[in-house]
Amino acid sequence: MNLNERIPNNVNLSEDKRLQRALEKWLPNFLSWWHDMGPDGFQEKDVWLRTAIDVGSEGWAHFDYVKMPEYRWGIFLEPAQPDAKVGFGDNYGAPAYQEVPGEFRNALRRIIVTQGDTEPASVEQQRQLGHTCPSLYDMRNLFQVNVEEGRHLWAMVYLLQGYFGRDGRDEADALLERRSGNPDKPRILEAFNQPCDDWLNFYAFTMFTDRDGKYQLSALAESGFEPLARTCRFMLTEEAHHMFVGDTGLSRVVKRTAQLMKQNPNEDARALGGIPLDIVQKYINFWFSYSLDLFGGEISSNSADFFAAGLKGRFKEQEQYTDHIAADGTFTMMVVENGKLVPREVPLRNALNEVLRGEYVKDCEKGLARWNKALTDEGLSERLCLPNIRFHRHVGEYAGHSFNIEGNLISKEEFEAKKSEWLPTIEDREYVRSLMRPVTEIGKIANWIAPPTSGIKGKPFEFEYVRL
Ligand SMILES: [Fe+2]
Ligand SMILES: [Fe+2]
Repeated sequence: MNLNERIPNNVNLSEDKRLQRALEKWLPNFLSWWHDMGPDGFQEKDVWLRTAIDVGSEGWAHFDYVKMPEYRWGIFLEPAQPDAKVGFGDNYGAPAYQEVPGEFRNALRRIIVTQGDTEPASVEQQRQLGHTCPSLYDMRNLFQVNVEEGRHLWAMVYLLQGYFGRDGRDEADALLERRSGNPDKPRILEAFNQPCDDWLNFYAFTMFTDRDGKYQLSALAESGFEPLARTCRFMLTEEAHHMFVGDTGLSRVVKRTAQLMKQNPNEDARALGGIPLDIVQKYINFWFSYSLDLFGGEISSNSADFFAAGLKGRFKEQEQYTDHIAADGTFTMMVVENGKLVPREVPLRNALNEVLRGEYVKDCEKGLARWNKALTDEGLSERLCLPNIRFHRHVGEYAGHSFNIEGNLISKEEFEAKKSEWLPTIEDREYVRSLMRPVTEIGKIANWIAPPTSGIKGKPFEFEYVRL
């Protein structure tokens, strides 16, 4: 591990002068992007952050006060596995690719660019949230997520510059040029162009959208392109914290809402400055449906090609499956035909987006169970739920059709008439925003959210996580 170089790394960067030069040329552009599009304000403040200093299970998370622009962004890959093999697809069992196979070059570049684009996008989406944090603990978590998304961008840029030559360098530059929500140069995926401008959005985003990241990275951690697999394996260790922030954040909102409901004779949390459960449900519906789109079309020749080439596997491909060829299985899914939902059987390889999406949905359901337990613990009978996977989709088989929250086909008019019951309205968003007043005293927390059950890395909640 070379921590003292300009770009910390464990890939022997100093021995590859061409790559080192390319990355050092990119570094000031990254910093100027971070300055312009990273967290607004607080750049000069000391934040109690963890920094990767080793990829081993103990050493990679080192905690100390750091000013965000001085965070040690770097290039960290999990150790190479001796005799790594392509773990699935048509080349199953062949030696893993250490270089980009020419015939898969475009597909691989597209996979890496698409993943890479999400990382700076989320930082852009979240850049104003520091100003309205509910506590110092939450502010610190926000900035931790932000710097790590910055490092994930480095991870993808390393692959582009290290393995794709000239066009890889161009793509690395373009990753700093697109802007979340900008109509002229938007980010590639739609969820990453949606505003994330209040903390309920932030928790829902890190719960649902970062969790999509977990599944994409897990599928790429199986890749036969060994540098990609090793990069993604290390990114997954960081990603876990992002989902923790979202999952526990929503849990704390739900808990506080339940407490306020009990204090009010009409069980009206809003009357006491809380976020009503129906608004929480609408935010869930919004971010869950946009995040489902990130998996791509239900029936996809790309998914079949990526799998056949050994580039993108299934979730826990090695652990969960015995047949890694998957050449003759089938998968049955519901599709719309002549205005009706009917089952259609497709070759398994063409359904792998849907298979991965199914794993993701199961994981999300566990989050819902935890939040519902928070309601039970407070003695309430109300429940939150996930909408059906067909609801409010913009990509794939269900895009262009209207479904209700249970997943039944309805007319566009019916959808429009009910939309305000299912998705956040302007009034809902304005109400949530009206609650977003910063609380920055040590140990204090906003009224609309419960404190966490413990602090970070053995520190109490009452700790100066950010020195203001
Ligand atoms: Fe990320
Ligand atoms: Fe993340």
